Amino acid sequence: MPKIAISGKGGVGKSTLAALLAYIYSQKGFKVIAVDADPDGNLAVALGFPQELVAKLTPIAKMEDLIEERTGAKPGSYGLIFKMNPKVDDIPDRFSVEHRGIKLLVMGTIEKGGSGCVCPESVLLKNLVAHLLLQRQEVLIMDMEAGVEHLGRATAKAVDAFIIVVEPGLRSLQTAYAVQRLAADIGVRRTFVVGNKIQSQKDKDFLLANLPGFTFLGFLSYSPLALEADKLGKPVFELDQGLVREAEEIVRNLEEKLHAEED
Ligand SMILES: Nc1ncnc2c1ncn2[C@@H]1O[C@H](COP(=O)(O)OP(=O)(O)O)[C@@H](O)[C@H]1O
Ligand SMILES: [Mg+2]
Repeated sequence: MPKIAISGKGGVGKSTLAALLAYIYSQKGFKVIAVDADPDGNLAVALGFPQELVAKLTPIAKMEDLIEERTGAKPGSYGLIFKMNPKVDDIPDRFSVEHRGIKLLVMGTIEKGGSGCVCPESVLLKNLVAHLLLQRQEVLIMDMEAGVEHLGRATAKAVDAFIIVVEPGLRSLQTAYAVQRLAADIGVRRTFVVGNKIQSQKDKDFLLANLPGFTFLGFLSYSPLALEADKLGKPVFELDQGLVREAEEIVRNLEEKLHAEED
């Protein structure tokens, strides 16, 4: 059951891809947990979670009592002694919400207190991500920002596929190179690319030509229905079967690459 992390520039389509992958794996009968680890994220909306469920979601980083209970220190405190291995194994089931067989957990934002912040909330989230990657029997789809926040050296290796989403345009490519470097630095083993918002063969060629050395899992077409879904608050996989087909192809390619390595 693959552990997948999705990264890339803001607006490039990370949450759209995350929602499509979560949907496809759940349709295949897998247990799926989707994790919104983008401080600027709204994966719940992309997944079409109803408002009453979204209202029940509290980002883990905002659960001050929980953080204090588990680490022994209040969030935002520095220089205090706190537990580096807090208990986290009950968090995914207690604090996620579930809709149509997909669990959703929201990480939330950590206020950065200077460089190299080792604060209780970041320790808790890092431990939680480690637990999700290493201990749970389900497909993990982690929707991240353009970085590797919450992934440490110890856990990076457990990521089966680190997917960087790009669109035809130089800015998302620059981000892709930067993210790839960060991922490689912490020991992520397999980085892939998905090209999104593709309008023509030219767009594909542009991405392929500008990302030599990257392994492409596939492409998603530019889709007015994706924008429409966003406006209606509906999941893209309900409105655009074309994108679902393309994402299924991406999943097939991914599975092939992961299994090829096992043999
Ligand atoms: N293939 C696509 N075609 C058209 N619009 C898209 C496509 N993929 C994503 N979008 C739109 O782009 C915007 C950003 O997508 P989103 O998945 O939220 O990006 P991110 O999570 O990377 O910030 C949304 O309005 C979304 O509907
Ligand atoms: Mg997003």
